[in-house]
Amino acid sequence: MAKVKPRIQKMSHYRPPLEGRSSKDYLLLDFNERTTPASPKVKEALRKFIDSERTQVYPEYGNLEEKIAEYAGVKPGQAMVTSGGDQGIDIICRAHLDEGDKVIIPFPSFAMHYQSSGIQGANILEPKYEEDGSFPLDETLNLISDGVRLIILCNPNNPLGSMIPIEDVEKILKKAKEKEIAVLHDEAYFEFSRITAKDLIEKYDNLYVVRTFAKAFGLVASRAGYVVSKENNIQELSKIRGPYDVNMFAKTAILAALEDIVHMESYVKEVMEVSKPKLEEFLEKRGVFFYPSRANYLLLKMKNPEEITEKIRSEGILVRPKPDHDGKEAMRVSIGTLKDTEKFIKAMDKVLALR
Ligand SMILES: Cc1ncc(COP(=O)(O)O)c(C=O)c1O
Repeated sequence: MAKVKPRIQKMSHYRPPLEGRSSKDYLLLDFNERTTPASPKVKEALRKFIDSERTQVYPEYGNLEEKIAEYAGVKPGQAMVTSGGDQGIDIICRAHLDEGDKVIIPFPSFAMHYQSSGIQGANILEPKYEEDGSFPLDETLNLISDGVRLIILCNPNNPLGSMIPIEDVEKILKKAKEKEIAVLHDEAYFEFSRITAKDLIEKYDNLYVVRTFAKAFGLVASRAGYVVSKENNIQELSKIRGPYDVNMFAKTAILAALEDIVHMESYVKEVMEVSKPKLEEFLEKRGVFFYPSRANYLLLKMKNPEEITEKIRSEGILVRPKPDHDGKEAMRVSIGTLKDTEKFIKAMDKVLALR
């Protein structure tokens, strides 16, 4: 057997439960995806691309990154397209972490933060979120010291859903900048939360913002994301990304999705202004604790989350077990349209009544 690096041998796989996720059989509330298709413009553009007979030609990006920068509200040159948000995270970890370096990842966080840091051989420092889902600011600030090379902030947090006030992000950026430590601000759910650190990139050259087209835009199958940072940083990161890492389906889908922002916004409005309050009201009535969320999902704390997850599955809905602030298993449910939410509430009502 080929001998891979010992630290890779020691690592575990990130194997999300992807098998059997048929949307014909189940309502998919397990991966924080859109529950409705992307803009019809995306479908049309992808069809056109396939018919153009350019699938045998290497990707060509044209003005893609300028268009992304325009959407993100930053200058041209300050955005880099990536193959999903995951690739942005990975490239930043590769750019900043070596074996033995320290990385601060407040717990709990998104799996790829641990995976990409682990591949680099970094030691992970984990200040813990509070019981009410609030961010451990003092603990994080106190951990900023020599040897730390990167801080990964997930805002809103996945899986908790809770937010970090931008003033607190700035306190971290300031202290980190003094010590030349990079900060990755993961904004995968930006379209839902509207929380962003992108206005701080001019002031803090140690800041990277990672975003994705996977969630609110619904382009997850194409793998489409981007990083926003100072132009010099983007230049450095683009040495790590391969010249064709982003495929033409992603390019085509992104450009078409950006032509139909209204489609994305109307979904976000339904999720955040109609579905989410309805679900929260139901859970409050039933006495189920959930962390305050700024994203399209809620993390529910219950006595036996595995059993409830299974019962919800037998009602035709997939949800996902995820750790709470303390590392104990909880149940994360994505929020979709009103119809989806009504279906989930009905199933949950039945399951809770059986207990
Ligand atoms: C916090 C967070 N960051 C990044 C990503 C990665 O997004 P993508 O699917 O575009 O790689 C996700 C996806 O679930 C996420 O939850």
